[in-house]
Amino acid sequence: MEYSVKSGHPEKQRIGCVVIPVYASRKLSPSAKIIDKASNGYISNLVRRGEIEGDLGNTLLLHNVENTLCDRVLFIGCGKEKDITIKTFYKLNHTMVKTLKSTGATEIASYLTEIPVKRKDVNWKIKHSIEAIDEALYIFNQLKSKKDEPRRPLRKFIFNVNGRGQLMQGEDAVRQGMAVSAGIHLAKDLGNLPGNICTPTYLAAAATKLAKQHSKIKTSVLEENDMEKLGMGSLLSVSKGSREPAKLITMEYMAGDKKQAPIVFVGKGVTFDSGGISLKPGAAMDEMKYDMCGAASVVGAMNAIAELQLPVNVVGIIPTVENMPDGIASRPGDVVTSMSGQTIEILNTDAEGRLILCDALSYAEKFNPDVVIDIATLTGACIVALGAHPAGLLSNHSPLANDLLSAGQTSGDRCWQLPLWDDYQEQLKSNFADIANIGGKGAGTITAACFLSRFTKKYHWAHLDIAGVAWKNGTHKGATGRPVGLLTQYVLDRFQSEK
Ligand code: BES
Ligand code: MN
Ligand code: ZN
Repeated sequence: MEYSVKSGHPEKQRIGCVVIPVYASRKLSPSAKIIDKASNGYISNLVRRGEIEGDLGNTLLLHNVENTLCDRVLFIGCGKEKDITIKTFYKLNHTMVKTLKSTGATEIASYLTEIPVKRKDVNWKIKHSIEAIDEALYIFNQLKSKKDEPRRPLRKFIFNVNGRGQLMQGEDAVRQGMAVSAGIHLAKDLGNLPGNICTPTYLAAAATKLAKQHSKIKTSVLEENDMEKLGMGSLLSVSKGSREPAKLITMEYMAGDKKQAPIVFVGKGVTFDSGGISLKPGAAMDEMKYDMCGAASVVGAMNAIAELQLPVNVVGIIPTVENMPDGIASRPGDVVTSMSGQTIEILNTDAEGRLILCDALSYAEKFNPDVVIDIATLTGACIVALGAHPAGLLSNHSPLANDLLSAGQTSGDRCWQLPLWDDYQEQLKSNFADIANIGGKGAGTITAACFLSRFTKKYHWAHLDIAGVAWKNGTHKGATGRPVGLLTQYVLDRFQSEK
């Protein structure tokens, strides 16, 4: 899709369709008023006759409106002007795309950037229009033999800004929106690919491809024998039962000052989680192909950051394995030794995410990180606690937690903090090893984070549990690309505060 910004009156746009907001009840927006005036009161007349009320989601498509240069005008009802939230703004962009798809228009001028969204400026609206439009147009049909593509696909969106003074910043917002959106797209594609295609080897190839596309990204891949030498007994124990070899992927984007300690992302890359010997029940087990969405979000965020050419140092680490039952798979009760030297009693082979993350988190020390953020579809308990809206956030450093909470508010890709109190640590006691890999009844998301905290003592660390937000189930089953928006915003904020 092509995106750009422009400043100009709606009736003067020589284009397939102009999209104009209308508010409840029957209130014309500034751009609607201009079209009304140009067409000698045609619009207010239609409003009076009840053709459009301005209720949220209402639409009215008109052709050849008098004294306009466009083929069509699409009015979109936005509900009460004062009630428009981030969610509503996304919904309105979706409505716009859905309606336009059934017209012949391919080039669009959107005046939805006029809509007031609480505490958000026009640049935010441009950026998020792009994310919303791309979201509405996303289809995953790589694996279908018949791909029904639209005959006249949408090609171009031009966002209106108020005056030439807003053009430069608007163009920057377009760049940011397109970069984040491309990152989300990539993360969705990787997430949606099934376990028989998206294996650890496939993820390593995807990360290597990223390095080919961006000269500033360097990717390296450790094989099982390399990991053995490093003493990653915990990570390797998870993939023992699988025919797919484990990989440890590192992507380095070092475009910042040499002396600046990097931001390190660590993404859980379990390409299929059967549970292992502690086998999962059959219902919805297919969804465990999404157990690599943390890894996918790291790849997506690295892509966005490189596309924006931000002068920052960011490292992405992806421990990736497949968790399968087998004659040589880990058994409940097995004790393994992690890279840190701590021994772990595997009481449940389905608590495998923490077993691969702990070694990756020890490995992260070698980058002398400023902060480490891990992203993982780690616990079903997180879905029980928070549902599908925010990711769970736990951290050993409150300024880092606050930065992430704030990046979540800005981007709309939100997280919510849970306590990482020492009180929970005792749930991880083991009679046979230094630590058990499950914490028993209660606070499953917190005890999982407590487990990880034993391996992150040397740096500032935050953990994002994305079990509830990484994909949607039901008829809309599919990866969301979250939290690429959050991670990219965090890096953007860091860069802006240091500038
Ligand atoms: N990948 C799962 C967590 C998960 C389950 C995410 C369902 C999203 C939906 C993880 O590896 C897992 O199996 N966790 C266990 C931990 C338990 C054994 C302590 C869980 O949540 O049941
Ligand atoms: Mn599991
Ligand atoms: Zn898992």
